[in-house]
Amino acid sequence: MSTAVFPALIDCHVHFREPGLEHKADMATEGLAAFHGGIRTVCEMPNTNPGTHTVAAFADKVERAKRIADKCDIRFYFGAVASAHVAELEALWTKPENEALKKRCSGLKLYLDNSTGNMKADESVVEEAFALCGRLRIPLVAHCECSSINNEAAEAHPPTTVEAHSKRRPESSEVTSIRSAVTLAEKHGTLLHVAHLSTAGGLELVRDAKKRGLPVTCEVTPHHLFLTTADYPEMQSRIKVNPPIRTHEKEHLWVGLLDGTIDCVATDHAPHLMDEKALGPNAPSGMPGVEVVLSLMISVVAGHWPHPTAPPPACLTAGKDGGLEGIDFAALKMLMFTHPNAIFSLGCDAKDAIEVTTEGERIIRNEDMHSKCQWTPYDGWKVKGRMALAVTRSFNAVFKVRCCVSL
Ligand code: DOR
Ligand code: ZN
Ligand code: ZN
Repeated sequence: MSTAVFPALIDCHVHFREPGLEHKADMATEGLAAFHGGIRTVCEMPNTNPGTHTVAAFADKVERAKRIADKCDIRFYFGAVASAHVAELEALWTKPENEALKKRCSGLKLYLDNSTGNMKADESVVEEAFALCGRLRIPLVAHCECSSINNEAAEAHPPTTVEAHSKRRPESSEVTSIRSAVTLAEKHGTLLHVAHLSTAGGLELVRDAKKRGLPVTCEVTPHHLFLTTADYPEMQSRIKVNPPIRTHEKEHLWVGLLDGTIDCVATDHAPHLMDEKALGPNAPSGMPGVEVVLSLMISVVAGHWPHPTAPPPACLTAGKDGGLEGIDFAALKMLMFTHPNAIFSLGCDAKDAIEVTTEGERIIRNEDMHSKCQWTPYDGWKVKGRMALAVTRSFNAVFKVRCCVSL
């Protein structure tokens, strides 16, 4: 049995849908979901309605986040689809009167490929954005690895068999946008963070950029770590997502986690209602994750692969008789606290703590979710280990008040 005390964790990629899409989720519901998942700081994406493209829209989000501040510290990405938005970001970053707002900004999110919200940036805007972020040292998060044709349409009907999936574009052709992002980052000295890395080809590009000393980092989602297209027949459009669930890449992503190429585990928590997900060809892309990611990862540390039918990746089982080896609590803390804290200069300290242990087990259940959407792709999965929320303001204090949530 092993235990550890972590500072409350960070998820540097979530969609909380407020303002404009509150029928799916809002800051209060998703902030609470994060809290119950052991996550106390999140960086929230700009594809809300209105999009977070102006100082005024940004200020509105910061104001709204205050009502959940005791549970969840929400930072926000700025978004840009047009030149005017890049100018707004510059104003946010440089004008003295915006100093307080700037502290709530984790960086710029740029859609180099299509996704929910149609926020793909024009080519000229992309170059401008890399240049500004390079000059002002603003972290730039790039959404890549989706077909350049409208991905919503391309992915409209998730293939329900592995054979059907293999007829789609080859996975290796989907890394073009990562290649151009790395080129632009090199040209402008931009701090580039590749969102939701999902392919071996993309991983290779990040590995190479790091070797060359470029300030390039990346994250991986739990759904790309635990799901493959073999899950389509059972999970169908619930696991329709951008970038899509892959067939063979999971193995490589775990290798990337173990060898340190992947810096963060981030959920891309993208809640959509079950009714919307049941819309077949018109189902929106994305799935929730903020409430279960830690449970899934603790289970791996505890030596139990949580997927009910698929085998664990070979890199985790090498040299162990049936158990898993490779990720321990120290590594998990790096992936879900230390690295995102440093990459986005979040300044999180250890004032709130969580205790994690490999002891115990539970079944993940839809009905236990706090997210407004009330479902999880991992419903029915058994996970080993658990976390306890240690309500303390001092990391060194003995945890006198401890509430064990049934996670
Ligand atoms: O599948 C996705 N859903 N990918 C994204 O990048 C956006 C997200 C959403 O907002 O629903
Ligand atoms: Zn994205
Ligand atoms: Zn996202």
